[in-house]
Amino acid sequence: MMPMGERRKRTIDGHVYVQICKSTDVIEGKGFVVDYDLDHEIALFRIKGALRAVSNSCPHKRASMIAQGHVEHDTVRCPMHGWTFRLSDGCFVGIFGQHAPSVSGRQRLDVYTVVEDDDAIWLREPEERVVSWME
Ligand code: FES
Repeated sequence: MMPMGERRKRTIDGHVYVQICKSTDVIEGKGFVVDYDLDHEIALFRIKGALRAVSNSCPHKRASMIAQGHVEHDTVRCPMHGWTFRLSDGCFVGIFGQHAPSVSGRQRLDVYTVVEDDDAIWLREPEERVVSWME
């Protein structure tokens, strides 16, 4: 893991991006975890060459195992109980082995913006989470 103090930053289209790993860390069809900060553990995937970045925490039981999930086309299946999510937008698409899951389609993975340049992967700095009592 890249220590926080060593992460390079750059500005792209007015947004700050932080280098989170090397390009070679993320290989086709396998998840790679970046522990960005206390609020953002990110699962990176490469699907037909394209990068995908989603939260590593499953919205079902909060298991931090999305990066270890089974990847098929543009989806990942949580290894715990089979909830499956589209990697491009994080949307829940079903439960492995169930035809009509009784789960709200509003369940989803957070999606992050990443770019690849200079043999590295850069994450657009995520918004700070607002705790409800601060609103
Ligand atoms: S924790 Fe992911 S499906 Fe249950």
